[in-house]
Amino acid sequence: MQQTIVSTEYADIYLCNSRSPEPCGMVIFGASGDLAHRKLLPALYRLFQDNLLPSQFFIVGAARTEMSHDAFRENVKESLQKFLSPDIYKTPDCENFAKKIYYFPLEYNDPTGYSKLSDFLQNTIEHEQITGGNLVFYLAVPPPVYPDVLQNLGSRGLSKRKNSEEGWRRVIIEKPFGNDLKSAQELTKIARQSFEENQIYRIDHYLGKETVQNILTFRFANTIFEPIWNRNYIDNVQISALETLGVEGRGGYYEQAGALRDMFQNHMLQLLSLVAMEPPAAFNADCIRDEKAKLFRSIRPFPADNLSDFVVRGQYDGGKINGVDSIPYRKEKGVSPDSVTETFAAARFLVDNWRWQGVPFYLRSGKRMAGALTEISIEFKQVPHLFIKSAVSQDLKPNILTFRIQPDEGISLTFEAKRPGPEMCMGQVKMEFLYKSVFGGKISDAYEILLLDCMLGDSTLYNREDGVELCWSLITPMIEKWKTEKPAAFPNYKSGTFGPVESEKLLERDGRKWIVS
Ligand code: BG6
Repeated sequence: MQQTIVSTEYADIYLCNSRSPEPCGMVIFGASGDLAHRKLLPALYRLFQDNLLPSQFFIVGAARTEMSHDAFRENVKESLQKFLSPDIYKTPDCENFAKKIYYFPLEYNDPTGYSKLSDFLQNTIEHEQITGGNLVFYLAVPPPVYPDVLQNLGSRGLSKRKNSEEGWRRVIIEKPFGNDLKSAQELTKIARQSFEENQIYRIDHYLGKETVQNILTFRFANTIFEPIWNRNYIDNVQISALETLGVEGRGGYYEQAGALRDMFQNHMLQLLSLVAMEPPAAFNADCIRDEKAKLFRSIRPFPADNLSDFVVRGQYDGGKINGVDSIPYRKEKGVSPDSVTETFAAARFLVDNWRWQGVPFYLRSGKRMAGALTEISIEFKQVPHLFIKSAVSQDLKPNILTFRIQPDEGISLTFEAKRPGPEMCMGQVKMEFLYKSVFGGKISDAYEILLLDCMLGDSTLYNREDGVELCWSLITPMIEKWKTEKPAAFPNYKSGTFGPVESEKLLERDGRKWIVS
């Protein structure tokens, strides 16, 4: 049995790079939606509480419903109470935060609404909250609405400064950025009619997760790992993003997406790129995104004629999650009773470069799994020769380095150790660093980090045009192929399991198994 033997200590002195944003405002389109209330407004509130927002700051919620400023403020307070803490409501912090909030009703496709918004921003708010005209626009609307908002921001003069006195303008575009290569290219074209590339922030919330950011620190701010970070020492890499949740009322969206679009094109490939990329020349947006793009270009395209050797798809049936009955995907609201949308995908990626030739990267992501966890496991090669072979009855287990992205965020390394006693007995032990025990309870939510970065004009953790398109060019052929080849037997896995049996076979074929820490 494996035992955890070491906990990690840390020095109080951090190498910090602290920055604070200039005064600015944020206009959230889709202000009555789930994303705004569940994620964006709570993230802004926590930044406000931690004094990380600029001294002069405001939020304008824009959506179609007619509502007064006060009614919207009340909605926001209720959401903070619901999604952050029941004790927040009516606290001084909450009341002060609410004073920074305004509401503006508009139809997303009506240009005159944007002219009125522009007028409201310049002539009403700017007198109360002096921000020099600096503005972030957040597109938290459904993707089909993106073109309307982008075009109207451009045509009504909101996207660019007219003179040097006017402040900067940035736009955050939520995922999914397109639903295949062609639509992503078209969306970029539309966005570029109103904004320059350096004003466009394509968000992938995984990049804002502390544990994800730490991958680069781990690799490039320590000496000992990089020399072994290659095909000479690493046998395979596994990335799992497993959820116990189903589609949670998002059946309508998910039917058009599926696991490949929803998780692989973005989150999963981003994780792969951070594990596999070369060291960037500098820690800045373009150097990092250049390296990621280079890596994406090195990923071998999947062969269309034997896709099933590389990719597996699944759809959940009913079953039990934590002892509670759950329904099949096909019975979820907004889902067709004969849907062929995949709620699980597993794939073997190969990277054609000197560092990774021959090292498979196995990726899997699924809904309604037996457990919720996101982790990256690096499995090292077996020792070339065991000096005490006679003392062990079976092969030693390889070293495994695991990045636990969530929950129980941390990093662990397994290795063999001699057990105390007169005999030569060995067993696998685990050395573990847990964020919670080392840094205390609070880990910033990804949206806090990403919203702050955008206000600071730092796009390092956002995706660039080429990166998004390269990922789509890897995923789109699979999506196309699956459209023409219907799956034989959906649903093909029970809720509360680790996906279809084909997922296990994908690795068994290579003499390997999925690792679960
Ligand atoms: C979103 C997907 O981007 O990421 C969801 O649309 C998924 O389907 C979610 O559940 C997972 O994010 P997290 O942060 O909970 O791992």
